[in-house]
Amino acid sequence: MQKKAKSVYEDLRVDISRAKSAAVGAADGLTPGEFHEIEPRVARLHATLTKERKDKKYGFYDLYKDKVAFDGVKDVACHFSEMGFKNLVVLGIGGSALGITALHTALGDPYRNLRGRKARDGRPRLFVMDNIDPVTFKTMMHVCKPEKTLYNVISKSGGTAETIAQLMIVVDMLEKKLGAGAVKDHLVVTTSPRGEKAPKSLLHPVADAYDLVSFDIPLNVGGRFSVFSPVGMFPAAMLGMDLDAMVAGCAAMDKQCSRASLTDNPAYLRAAVQYLMDVRKGKVMSVMMPYADGLRDVADWYRQLWAESLGKKFDLEGKKEVFTGQTPIKALGVTDQHSQVQLYREGPNNKLFTILEVKRFSASLRIPDVLPQVKGLDYLRNATMNKLMAAELRGTLDALKMSHRPVIRVILPALNAYTVAQVLYMLEVETAMAGCLYHVDAFNQPGVEEGKIIARKLMGGDR
Ligand code: PA5
Repeated sequence: MQKKAKSVYEDLRVDISRAKSAAVGAADGLTPGEFHEIEPRVARLHATLTKERKDKKYGFYDLYKDKVAFDGVKDVACHFSEMGFKNLVVLGIGGSALGITALHTALGDPYRNLRGRKARDGRPRLFVMDNIDPVTFKTMMHVCKPEKTLYNVISKSGGTAETIAQLMIVVDMLEKKLGAGAVKDHLVVTTSPRGEKAPKSLLHPVADAYDLVSFDIPLNVGGRFSVFSPVGMFPAAMLGMDLDAMVAGCAAMDKQCSRASLTDNPAYLRAAVQYLMDVRKGKVMSVMMPYADGLRDVADWYRQLWAESLGKKFDLEGKKEVFTGQTPIKALGVTDQHSQVQLYREGPNNKLFTILEVKRFSASLRIPDVLPQVKGLDYLRNATMNKLMAAELRGTLDALKMSHRPVIRVILPALNAYTVAQVLYMLEVETAMAGCLYHVDAFNQPGVEEGKIIARKLMGGDR
């Protein structure tokens, strides 16, 4: 019999044992009875989500399967890569910016933008412009010479004032410095598709006027769920990230997250724990604390996903006021041990912690046997930074447990395109299930609109 080839990829693991009553007590941890009680509800909601997925109400689940879109992204990236750009500048905000930022931090060299072309494998540096601070934007324009820069404007609605303002400045600069005819070699559009049923995007006439390459964001995919669409995948391809490994990571996680059983489905398990902790144990805040610099911006991405999806005034029917949502907080281990952990251990016991762990770092660093004149450093001599990091992590886990603070561990065997895709995919499915548990619409963001309308009016716009 032929032996089954061992997968080159290793899956992440979710461990909720430190969120159980056995670990932190029944006042702060979940009891077997509480799990038992919520299980049938999760199974029912799974049936609803599965049907809605099948009916294509939500597109995020299946983005990784869209071979045409992935091939398109790769082809265009190949074309622009041959032009040898030094910089890729993303113009976008919120869901149009946070996904690629998370991937860049997780999968790039930590000082990638400071390194030479060779160290970047000939790929461009990345600048994500997700704000309208004039100082930052002007400095970016100075640092990124237009002739060496490709811009990717990303806006699903095509009407976000901040992004459009950035675009107007960039188009004007390109026209003045390189000529209108050159714009198409320096600007790529990512926006909603054209069609009778699709809302009009202001980026469509721009793409037409300059004959720009344009990617579609499927209508059934919201900004914060769009990282595996061209929103995240085109810049990722330009930076040389392993898209195939990301697809494999999504596929493996999809398999796990398609199980109806609460205990076998990491996304549902996390959603149920977060929800119960909020409504039963008063854990109104959800802290995500990675113990790896590379995962720092995954916590930032999650912050938007959790806040915008679940922070809702009305229930799903839009009638009853519910005011739902945990406040997501991003932290970083070990750095925030010296900033936040005092509060986390001794302040109000109103937080659930997600600790993201990486078992094997891609580098190891030995602490040398030096400073013999300083007594008491033997515990560090000849150890590694890796070992110290693991000890600090364990210290935080155990200290939180001693203070009855519940923790979910998410353990990545290593940090790579496969595992990062698994984390992002799992958190998306988790958010969808959490929306069902809270009985709110996780896919809209009415609370963001009012401020946008006021700002537009103040600028002299019509609405
Ligand atoms: O998740 C969302 O839908 C939002 O955060 C949007 O991504 C953000 O408001 C930007 O919108 P747009 O892509 O339409 O410019």
